[in-house]
Amino acid sequence: MKKEFKRVLITAALPYANGYIHLGHLAGAYLPADIYARYQRLKKRDVLFICGSDEHGVAITVSAEREKTTPQAIIDRYHPANKEAFEQFGMSFDNYSRTSLPLHHETTREFFADFYKRNIVIEKKEQQLYCERDAMFLADRYVEGTCPKCKSIQARGDQCESCGSWLSQIELIDPKCKICGSRPVIRETTHLYFPLGRYQQRLEKYIRERHERDGWKENVLRYNESWFKEGLQDRAVTRDLTWGVPVPVKGFETKVVYVWFDAVLGYISSTKEWALKNKTPEAWREYWQRDDTKYVAFIGKDNVVFHCIVFPAMLMAWNDGHPDEQYVLPENVPANEFLNFEGQKFSKSRGWGIDVRDFLRFFPADTLRYALAVNLPEKSDSDFYLRDFQARVNNELADILGNFINRTLAFIEKNFNGKVPPRGDLNDLDIQILEYMKQAPTRVGNYYEQYRFREGLAEAMNLARVANKYFNDSEPWKTAKADKARCATTLNISTQVVRALAILMEPVIPHTSHRIWSLLNLQTTIYDDGWDSAGEERVPVNHLVKSPEILISKIEDSQIKQILNFIESGSETSTLTTIAMQTHTITIDDFKKIDLRVGKVLSAERLPKSEKLLKVLVDLGVEQRQLIAGIAQYYTPDQLVGKSVVVVANLKPTKLMGHESRGMLLAATDHDGTLALVTLERDITPGSSVK
Ligand code: 2FM
Ligand code: ZN
Repeated sequence: MKKEFKRVLITAALPYANGYIHLGHLAGAYLPADIYARYQRLKKRDVLFICGSDEHGVAITVSAEREKTTPQAIIDRYHPANKEAFEQFGMSFDNYSRTSLPLHHETTREFFADFYKRNIVIEKKEQQLYCERDAMFLADRYVEGTCPKCKSIQARGDQCESCGSWLSQIELIDPKCKICGSRPVIRETTHLYFPLGRYQQRLEKYIRERHERDGWKENVLRYNESWFKEGLQDRAVTRDLTWGVPVPVKGFETKVVYVWFDAVLGYISSTKEWALKNKTPEAWREYWQRDDTKYVAFIGKDNVVFHCIVFPAMLMAWNDGHPDEQYVLPENVPANEFLNFEGQKFSKSRGWGIDVRDFLRFFPADTLRYALAVNLPEKSDSDFYLRDFQARVNNELADILGNFINRTLAFIEKNFNGKVPPRGDLNDLDIQILEYMKQAPTRVGNYYEQYRFREGLAEAMNLARVANKYFNDSEPWKTAKADKARCATTLNISTQVVRALAILMEPVIPHTSHRIWSLLNLQTTIYDDGWDSAGEERVPVNHLVKSPEILISKIEDSQIKQILNFIESGSETSTLTTIAMQTHTITIDDFKKIDLRVGKVLSAERLPKSEKLLKVLVDLGVEQRQLIAGIAQYYTPDQLVGKSVVVVANLKPTKLMGHESRGMLLAATDHDGTLALVTLERDITPGSSVK
């Protein structure tokens, strides 16, 4: 049964302040959360939308070490940068906080001390990984190894990004210290543990009930089921680190609270900060401690366990001891899958992908919002290709939406002196489109209520499609002379649809919507009128509208080329810097994993639209291989043919700009960025192995 709610609390995962927000983050959690928040506000619901930076944990300290600076310097660089990038992108947070604030530390300590006092967190001795060379316990991301569940390499001490498992570090196969590369030893240490297992039954019931009420996403249910099936374990919630919230328990003062314990509480402390800024210090309770709040937590798939299991269990634990301070649990956790960029995973360490702030130097926020929204990874991973982006913006935003608005306003200016003409008798076409418009808010809204943003947007764009067809079929350019009253009716109705589109598109392209609204020259705001009014005819007769402006500029091929060049050059430098800083020793067995082979170049050609990439075919003795190499600036195809080169033959195949690449050519890069291929002193049979 659906429940009636008085207010909507929306949170979006607190991103680590250790790097810039990229397009993958936006598609995972932030854009869907913002569409939802804007939609709910248009529905005139009482909405609070909360976010902030996650500033603790090993994610931050590792970045500080890599960049040879302090954790404080890292968060002070990325927190303001990400806050600004979100603003540029049009995120409508009511508050964007940071977990280094005293208010947050206080909130975390309050929960932690309470759990300790009530014997919920308990002391245990356990074996942990310790690096003798660095003389420290290897918390979380300080250790990497093979995931015991999915066998992917580079699983971290607490989490495997590939399969989303929450790991206990001693389960890792072949663990290695992330700082020095050596193999850690096992040592005993004492930590405080949260008894997750104790809450399993209640958690299962909670998720079942909320799913029945609000329809949880299949992917999220699947993740949860797999954890329940394994059985929830006690988890250490303290760490032997100095960066974080100091543990408020006697004897543990030198340790810090596990970052995930404090991060989820960041939603609460950010709400407290919002209340203080608003001069209503207790108002945060209206959202967190009222049964009729609908709390929706937007995240990416790697955060599911923490939001569906850990956070609810913590809130249950609190609620058990505080009958007068009952927190709401998430009504839904609509987690998205991942977004790939040009066929590959976003990767900070490989320098692959593009940050939001960089992207927005090239293109307006709404074009990005639109292209991401049509392609959100709602059910499975999805791909962002710049060519698709260009096509979506040009063929849909500009040619369908922009065109309809433009032709309507231009026609009114030219034929009716800019005044909305009266509506006369209706014909079938008029009746149909008015009916379509009337139902549009419910149709789009129903999808948004179910977190199906792609379909909601498609439905809103359908109104623009139908409207263009209506305009064409009504042929106002003919009736302007032959039947002015008919022409007036067409334009009156078209103007009403322009207004409807401004409202219905606002959650996705807010900047453009508000510009459309200002062209309509109405006295109210979009938010005054609200979502449901989109189906109504509210632009009065004789109302003066403004001259059309270009709302969406088409994207030229040259612009796509520019951004591609930027990405290709940017990714090379960042890959180089990271490798230089991350170098550590490997064993001979590690080295043997790389299958290096002699290859003879059979043919090479430039990839169209790329200044850097060549498509190369090499003879590897037993087979011929196609690979894509970023060497076009240093070698012409002719220079390559016949050369004996060294190929990484067992590299996972990938696609670059739509072309399959099955391997990599070894090359050295000089200080000035120029590059030379590794070749052989004398000809060796293709396919011979290189060691
Ligand atoms: O994965 C991440 O980027 C985490 N910083 C998300 C934290 S969400 C919440 F718990 F704060
Ligand atoms: Zn795994």
